[in-house]
Amino acid sequence: MEFVRLLLLFLHLLGMGMLVAMFFVQRRAGADAPLNKGWLHAAALQLLTGVALVGLAPLTDQEYDHAKIGVKLLVLVVIAGLVAMNVSKPKPATWLTPTLAALVVVNTGIAVFWT
Ligand code: HEM
Repeated sequence: MEFVRLLLLFLHLLGMGMLVAMFFVQRRAGADAPLNKGWLHAAALQLLTGVALVGLAPLTDQEYDHAKIGVKLLVLVVIAGLVAMNVSKPKPATWLTPTLAALVVVNTGIAVFWT
């Protein structure tokens, strides 16, 4: 079971990397480009792997802080909501990409510093 936890954590960290990469992809595409669907895929990966890590906690002998997980989940829901509302627009608002990146940084900070 430890391997499953590590595999999920591995995918979770790749998802975080993908979210960070999306910021640069979006910036490179320019201000007039539509929101890249990669944001949605990376957010979904974070949600799936995060929920799976928490759901399997009894089997993987882990105890997670529910408040911490709740806040991370909330931040991710905001990220996913913003992406879902803007992904089909021809041109996203200028504040959107930096806001998404800031929320990713916030969740990474919570993951690391909330002990
Ligand atoms: C933008 C979204 C997210 C980012 C950037 C993120 C980032 C991270 C990072 C960097 C870690 C590793 C921390 C460490 O090992 O010290 C981590 C661990 C973890 N995350 Fe997330 N996370 C996100 C969303 C979520 C969500 C939505 C959940 C749950 C619903 C979640 C649940 C977990 C759990 C349970 C761990 C601990 C895994 C373990 O050590 O077994 N994460 N996250």
